[in-house]
Amino acid sequence: MFALRAASKSTLVRGFASSARVDYKAVVLGAGGGIGQPLSLLMKENPKVTELALYDVRGAPGVAADVSHINTNSKVTGHAADDIAGALKGADVVIIPAGVPRKPGMTRDDLFNTNAGIVATLADAVAKNCPKALVGIISNPVNSTVPIFAEVLKKNGVYDPKRLFGVTTLDVVRASRFVSEIKGNNPKDVQVTVVGGHSGPTIVPLLSQTASSADIKGETYDKLVHRIQFGGDEVVKAKDGAGSATLSMAYAGARFAGALLRGLDGEAGVIEPTFVESPLFAGEGIVYFSSNVELGPEGVKTIHPLGKLTAEEETLLKACIPELKKNIDKGVAFVASS
Ligand code: LAC
Repeated sequence: MFALRAASKSTLVRGFASSARVDYKAVVLGAGGGIGQPLSLLMKENPKVTELALYDVRGAPGVAADVSHINTNSKVTGHAADDIAGALKGADVVIIPAGVPRKPGMTRDDLFNTNAGIVATLADAVAKNCPKALVGIISNPVNSTVPIFAEVLKKNGVYDPKRLFGVTTLDVVRASRFVSEIKGNNPKDVQVTVVGGHSGPTIVPLLSQTASSADIKGETYDKLVHRIQFGGDEVVKAKDGAGSATLSMAYAGARFAGALLRGLDGEAGVIEPTFVESPLFAGEGIVYFSSNVELGPEGVKTIHPLGKLTAEEETLLKACIPELKKNIDKGVAFVASS
């Protein structure tokens, strides 16, 4: 199926038979928004993308016309509110930042009532138009929107747990940057695994597993953990009513989309923390959990265990679990009742 589709859609790279593809269609749902616009720009820079479809209820054709002038290889198409099918047909990777952002004083969960319905509608469209695509959810609250998306795909009979991802990359990006600010080293050399979910206490950085951060202790450690968990609030506060992180989130979303594409392309060893259906805490009723995941041609290849944790990390994990369970259950209940 994979090989057939690749062959019919494009030229195969000579000598690499069916595994290496030269063309991928990426779609941004919510391309007109604060995250969607810079994310579309960054996706235009990805050499693996040959077709970039931008959809939003407002503004996508304009963003598409603008981005389309950039002289990289991809063809860009803009899709207005009535043409989500046109955007999604043939998609390999779909990244979804659609929805409303936080205002000061709000938690990500406060966005649930608005964004849950938006995400459910988009999930239905993905189910009908590109059920085999790899989907990355940015729309908050991610801990609930990923279960919502999964439940809608299940209702349509097309859910594949290997193909649905919550994007938690911004937590990883922040952890790397914040550690490097303490250590005075280059963040490129600081890779911190962040597990759990994507909001406040559900964000659990495993600082002991990275050489640069393993020796950070005491008050510096506590402040660093708090900053990684609540880094989004710094941005919400500084933007003072104009929204939450858009540029750093777009960077993170594009980095994650790039990882999905590298996995699709058969590159070995592509590992990113991401929020997926996971066996790690299923015994405690937590069906979705973020940990290091190796990505491959079918999406999830291997879900890595957490490894050895310190007593501090065990405590963080204990605080994460009940909150995460509440967020996940709320998403599942939303679809069951609608
Ligand atoms: C953040 C929001 C956008 O992490 O989820 O800043």
